[in-house]
Amino acid sequence: MDVKGVHIETHPREGEPLVRAGRPDPCTVVLFGATGDLAQRKLFPALFELDRAGLLPEHFAVVAFSRSALDDTAFRAHVKAGLEKFARTQPLDEATWQRFAPRLEGVSGAYDDPQSFVRLRERLTQVSQKQKTGDNQLYYLATPASTFPQILKGLADSGLLTRQTDPGHHPWRRLVIEKPFGHDLESAKALNRELFSVLDERQIFRIDHYLGKETVQNILVFRFANAIFEPLWNRQHIDHVEITAAETIGVEGRGGFYDETGVIRDMVQNHLLQVLALCAMEPPVSFGAEDIRDEKNKVFRALRPVEGTDVADHVVVGQYQGYAQEKGVKPGSRTPTYVALRMHVDSWRWQGVPFYVRAGKNLKRRMTEVSIHFKSVPVGLFSGEGATCQRLQPNVLTLRIQPREGIALSFESKVPGEDVNIAGVTMDFNYAESFAKPVPEAYERLLLDCMRGNATLFARQDSVEQAWAYVTPILRAIESGEGGSVHTYAPGSAGPEAAASLMARSGRRWTPL
Ligand code: BG6
Repeated sequence: MDVKGVHIETHPREGEPLVRAGRPDPCTVVLFGATGDLAQRKLFPALFELDRAGLLPEHFAVVAFSRSALDDTAFRAHVKAGLEKFARTQPLDEATWQRFAPRLEGVSGAYDDPQSFVRLRERLTQVSQKQKTGDNQLYYLATPASTFPQILKGLADSGLLTRQTDPGHHPWRRLVIEKPFGHDLESAKALNRELFSVLDERQIFRIDHYLGKETVQNILVFRFANAIFEPLWNRQHIDHVEITAAETIGVEGRGGFYDETGVIRDMVQNHLLQVLALCAMEPPVSFGAEDIRDEKNKVFRALRPVEGTDVADHVVVGQYQGYAQEKGVKPGSRTPTYVALRMHVDSWRWQGVPFYVRAGKNLKRRMTEVSIHFKSVPVGLFSGEGATCQRLQPNVLTLRIQPREGIALSFESKVPGEDVNIAGVTMDFNYAESFAKPVPEAYERLLLDCMRGNATLFARQDSVEQAWAYVTPILRAIESGEGGSVHTYAPGSAGPEAAASLMARSGRRWTPL
């Protein structure tokens, strides 16, 4: 494309893509929790959009297992009502709906009733013949984690889910589960034991929707497909790394769930540690799922533990004013809705480079980004009598995950004129301007990857447990009060004041929201 007279090649290169996504296999998605919020807001809209774009397998069906008694007609009407609100392309494309609707079927039953699973099995046999799905089945548990053991047992006892150690096995059985994968290290291990009693790790797809975001996937391409950044990507040149996930929304009717969860389990244990790992990992041997996941796991293993009274020194938690009055929240709740952490990755590359991570709800601005703050120039060539030297700002590379998806690099420039005056300027890459196509929704990509059997963008057992091993002592200290107090902050603010001090102690400051 031509940007203001400069020719920049942004078209895909001729020939085959470096990694071809491949066609998804024919299959039936067996959805538990089909009338729930996740299914309505994310899963059906994603499947519908894939169908609209012609990306679903030709032979495909959804069988929804639901505790509410819904026949096919009522179930389809429910799905359509959700799509009218949440589908990515509006108004709803009627031609796609006409194709999509007959692929949806509903079975009702109870999770603890073996007969329900027998009925499900019979229906799946019929659907497989009718829709020619080759009997491949993708089980999706969009239900609270407390229901997993019962559902797993029902599926295993009825012979629907069986262990398959060969990833090339057909017809295949795969299982998708949603976070939170446990409540702490112990329960995460118990959940994994439960899963392994029925399945092989290669059949389990743990969804972390951050990994499905284009901008998060681009972290690895940015780092390893460009020669100029990687030599600087280490303790010699980087002063600190800042990762922010700020939201303007509050708990949005999920008070009951959120009050049991809190921001560390909701955002840090999964999304933000995954982003940190992608920024901090070593180059993988290949772009294969296990090679990438091996390198990420090494980062989790290298996280310096923070526990006991040390937590107050490294972690600041806050709760927005008015949280305790939200529906479903316990009076007097201490659940944090904001957290700021100073973390260290004890590896050769990152020794002495702090990672500052913050996340919160009801903040001033919606902004998820990673900022790599480079070191200051070694010699103050521009220092002198005037104040110019004071204004020199170290370079910052910002990976904007959302919104305004893109990457920016700030640097110093001479202000035109006879004096030597210096100002900060920015080089800015923007997805929307550079690529004339919309960025797909994370769930669309992730659902297709499950149907392809590609686990690269999913969390592996060891990483999930390592991430819990890091956050569990922090959670314990905060819950017991040993980790300091829960500060309050005004809705719409930048978070608690104490978070600023966490950085200020070392002469740094957060990027303003
Ligand atoms: C979810 C959390 O996993 O991620 C929510 O449960 C949070 O509390 C959401 O709002 C943020 O996702 P996104 O894609 O809007 O950044």
